[in-house]
This record gives sequence, C-alpha cells and structure tokens, in this order.
Amino acid sequence: MTRILVLQGPNLDLLGTRQPALYGTETLDEIHASLAQHAERLGVELDFFQSNHEGALVDRLHRRDFDAVIVNAAAYTHTSVALRDAFLAVAVPFVEVHLTDPWQREPFRHVNFLHDIAIRTVVGQGSRGYHAALETLAARFREGDA
Ligand code: DQA
Repeated sequence: MTRILVLQGPNLDLLGTRQPALYGTETLDEIHASLAQHAERLGVELDFFQSNHEGALVDRLHRRDFDAVIVNAAAYTHTSVALRDAFLAVAVPFVEVHLTDPWQREPFRHVNFLHDIAIRTVVGQGSRGYHAALETLAARFREGDA
C-alpha cells in the first residue's frame, strides 16, 4: 500500500484558534481525521507529523518510511534551505499545500524554497487543499508513474 507522510510545520498545531479569519476554524486533528477517511477510500496509508521545530521536520523526513509526502511547511516554506535540502536528499515526490495563498500576502511570503521541487503546490483552498494533494499523489501511484 502506498504510504504518504503528512508533514505539518510550525503553528499549524494552533489551527482552529489561530487567526480563524485567515486559516479557518477546523483544528489540525479534524483536518487529519477527514484526510484519514479520504485515504481509506483511496486505499492509501497516511502518517501524520507536526512540529514547530525545523530540525524535527528534517529528522522526520530522514526516516524515509513513506513513498510520498504532503507538506505544509508553514513559515519554514519561506526560510528553510535545510528543509529543501532534506526533500532533495530523500528524493520522493511531494505536494506542497498552503491554506492561504502566500503569493497574495506579504512580500516575504512570496519567497518559497519548496515550490520548484514539488510536483504540485496547492494554495488558497483551505483544508480542501490537503485533499487535492492526496488525490494527486494517489492518482500518481495508481498510474504507477511515481
Ligand atoms: C501557510 C502560509 C505561511 O506563509 C504561513 O507562515 C503559515 C501557514 C498556509 O497554510 O497558508 O504558517 O503555510
């Protein structure tokens, strides 16, 4: 069975109460529960990991116990060469998700260290973006071209 790691960066543990006008009222647990149901329907196995620490996210990638990754690196998207290098090192396909559209926000959010190495970047769809990412990866593995 295809194994997909769902990697969540800093402050996403506060979803539900964090700037709800921007990020919505769903908690991270609720988003993950809904994704887990979707994954079951698609016959894909998910593992979830959230950290506020850059190195912990890098360490999780180094375990390489997955076939693909869905990542919302949050603020590290805009700063982390370490995370970019980790993705290049493990060399698995990944889809980048952002609840908001960072390109429509402050200029410092227009810098993105993952976008050009991701197979897809989904922005501005709220939690539906994670489901779109899951569909993309599931289809890719179904077609056997991963
Ligand atoms: C975010 C966008 C980032 O700029 C921000 O730092 C986040 C969340 C999003 O999901 O829209 O923490 O990744």
